[in-house]
Amino acid sequence: MTDGVATATAFVDGSFVPVTEARVSVLDRGFLFADGVYEVIPAYAGKTFALQQHLARLARSLHELQIANPHTETEWTELANQLMERNGGGDCMIYLQVTRGAPAKRSHAFPTQVKPTVVGLCNALPIPSETALRDGVAAVTRPDIRWGRCDIKSIALLPNILASQAANEKSCNEAILHRDGRVTEGASSNVWAVLGTAVVTPSKGPEILAGITRDVLLEALRAAKVPVQERRLTLNELRSADEIWLTSSTREVLPVTKLDGDPVGARKPGALWKKAYALFQDAKHKAVSSRAS
Ligand code: PDD
Repeated sequence: MTDGVATATAFVDGSFVPVTEARVSVLDRGFLFADGVYEVIPAYAGKTFALQQHLARLARSLHELQIANPHTETEWTELANQLMERNGGGDCMIYLQVTRGAPAKRSHAFPTQVKPTVVGLCNALPIPSETALRDGVAAVTRPDIRWGRCDIKSIALLPNILASQAANEKSCNEAILHRDGRVTEGASSNVWAVLGTAVVTPSKGPEILAGITRDVLLEALRAAKVPVQERRLTLNELRSADEIWLTSSTREVLPVTKLDGDPVGARKPGALWKKAYALFQDAKHKAVSSRAS
């Protein structure tokens, strides 16, 4: 896997080009309006994980924004595989972005007869370090100031970026967002809390992205008969949780042991996290090793 920007290969509108030469128009609506959607798909040893689920979510995001899906599932799969191959395979993440395209002039309403712009990138997968898994990570809480359709994986991420930066400035791994006293999700992850013996994660809906890692973990926990509740999670509950976890394609299942500077539970990754992490790794290995490519 090459992670050097200079040597990486990108996909832009039908061609594979060195990332340093990849260009889109200044009139592209992604550039002017953040009028587009994206996906981040993890791959292990050159094999994508949960690709179909990611492509289904991409199709849904496009549908919600009335952007025609430029590729069939087979074409997307081929594109993902090509991107991996041309970037050296290994453990990587594939970034796919589709915008409404580049019309002849800037105008807010949808242009007619413009074809969507497709961009693909492939980088090393930044899975959590041994230290993060051993000690857990720190998180901060921030008000959720995003729009009302966080279920769409839109490239308009300014509030997420501001929250991530606030976390970064406090040497924290993630910002956990809350609205009207309830936890929504992380700036780029889903949130879980262990309250006594109950594992709780906020329900799906317009306030959160339906994380693929969240779905995989939910299924694995339920199959292992670990009780999980998808429901409203209050900020007060989060503050008194025994364990907090984050899930995403890049974080996998990550324990949070410090919240706003205070220790979470017993200050170390908890017993239920260990179980959840093992279940997730198992699901991942089974899915990846059962496939030829
Ligand atoms: N982010 N919620 C938000 C706001 C996210 O941006 C993400 C993922 C998730 C978790 O989704 P998944 O399990 O499908 O990765 C939840 C990706 C990794 C990113 O923007 O880089």
